[in-house]
Amino acid sequence: MTDEEARVLNDEILSCTRCRLSFGRSHAVPGEGPVPSRIVLVGEAPGEKEDRSGRPFAGRAGSVLNRLLASIGLSRDDVFITSILKCRPPENRDPKNDEIASCKPYLDRQIALLRPSIIVPMGRFSAAVIMGQFGVPGGRISEIHGKAFRAEAPHGPIILFPVYHPAVVTHNPPLRGDLETDFRRLKEILEGISPV
Ligand code: URA
Repeated sequence: MTDEEARVLNDEILSCTRCRLSFGRSHAVPGEGPVPSRIVLVGEAPGEKEDRSGRPFAGRAGSVLNRLLASIGLSRDDVFITSILKCRPPENRDPKNDEIASCKPYLDRQIALLRPSIIVPMGRFSAAVIMGQFGVPGGRISEIHGKAFRAEAPHGPIILFPVYHPAVVTHNPPLRGDLETDFRRLKEILEGISPV
């Protein structure tokens, strides 16, 4: 991804009016991180803090994510963080199919430009969309989290590594341990220690 390509795509997302969510937003949230990026983390959609700031994972789930990354020696500067939807759904309701259809091409273009070797869908919603896109049989997030799936992206072979959404720690604290274990496995995969 050249700086120019990244800038053009970001500007398109920031001024997008493809779906109803654009009318209620303060800011679209394209995502941020290095380009290209070996690891791309994909959440569901911006929440209130993200909508206000224009930055991904700016709230409580973001603090959890920062700690998980730090636990495996990574910072936000080492990964690209984005979401399936770039604009906040009202009251954080679930994304609608037509909103996904409108917004998903932005994620596809980001992946093509970032050329990651690992995509980490965070949460059941993101996992379902991304596994479906790459034709990988999915399943419940409780069954597929922390497992590595080989897939073929237009730029080459990739690994899909679904995990729980970091916000799960707020709703279901016992799952924090699963998230921590999954991030340790992610580290091993990155270091080539753990077989896929
Ligand atoms: N949850 C998401 O999925 N994305 C964000 O940017 C923030 C919270």
